[in-house]
Amino acid sequence: MTNLDHSSMVNEPDDSWGGPWTEKKLNAFSAYVWSYLSILKTQPQWKTIYFDGFAGSGARKEPKTEEYKQLSITEEDENIYKGAAERVLTLKDDLLFDWHYFIDTNTSSLTRLEAKLKKLPNSEKTKLIFRSKDCNASLQDLAQALKSNKYAALVLLDPFGMQINWKSIAGLKGTRSDVWILVPTGVIVNRLLFRSGNLPYIDKLTSFFGLAEEEIRKEFYKTEQRLDLFGDESEEITKVIKPINQIMRVYIRQLKTVWKFVTEDPMRLDNTKGRPLFHLVFASNNATAIKIAKDIIKVK
Ligand SMILES: C[S@@+](CC[C@H](N)C(=O)[O-])C[C@H]1O[C@@H](n2cnc3c(N)ncnc32)[C@H](O)[C@@H]1O
Repeated sequence: MTNLDHSSMVNEPDDSWGGPWTEKKLNAFSAYVWSYLSILKTQPQWKTIYFDGFAGSGARKEPKTEEYKQLSITEEDENIYKGAAERVLTLKDDLLFDWHYFIDTNTSSLTRLEAKLKKLPNSEKTKLIFRSKDCNASLQDLAQALKSNKYAALVLLDPFGMQINWKSIAGLKGTRSDVWILVPTGVIVNRLLFRSGNLPYIDKLTSFFGLAEEEIRKEFYKTEQRLDLFGDESEEITKVIKPINQIMRVYIRQLKTVWKFVTEDPMRLDNTKGRPLFHLVFASNNATAIKIAKDIIKVK
């Protein structure tokens, strides 16, 4: 595990960050937000909440962090970048949520995001709330608020790493929530599932999947008893053949314990060499919502 920065659990290939996959993710998301708000506009009994759990600074480049250091992005690239937060406030037809929550553990990123968003004309027509807090704790606050049955929430969870604990997601069960989640299938989870079956990051894996070690081993490894030349028995452990697909299958199965509908074929986001980095998955209790999300994923 020499090239894995496990302090943040993020270390993407040099050519991957800020590449076309970011655009693909954000375009799909914006298309969904527009449809979502167009429908919710006709249902005024619901107050709408936008919850961005990993809001960032609104810029593509974050020179101070390790992740961004390796990037060589031009000033122009940086200036034209519109992150999720800005897109949500500049939708066509001026559609807006009633409340916008922007969560990030990095206070200085949030301050920059706030300054950027407050320059937008729409910022005065709605409520913008910036919380410097861990997304997991904020998800619990959100789940609590949604229990009142007054709010419909659209939740974007797009971390680079495995920061989202399963427990935080499970808390949204039974709420009016539509969720887009970026799952770091290829870029991280697969790399923590060592081919040898040795699992030094098992705690991260169990909190991420919401499964016990035994279940994780059963999903991703096969154990066979072998006899050697001398008739001695030994165990041979092999990793499943298509682990990234299996990661997604297991995660989807977990999501289905919380929401009625989950995209079975999530959007795969590849690096420039065509290797899968992330999957963007959608979950909802609403049949129309899942249909819209599937159509968007098919086209993008
Ligand atoms: C992928 S960026 C966000 C991209 C942004 N949504 C956009 O569209 O441009 C990741 C952000 O997550 C923040 N972050 C990392 N761990 C976090 C956590 N546990 N809770 C909340 N924010 C976190 C980082 O500080 C960073 O600003």
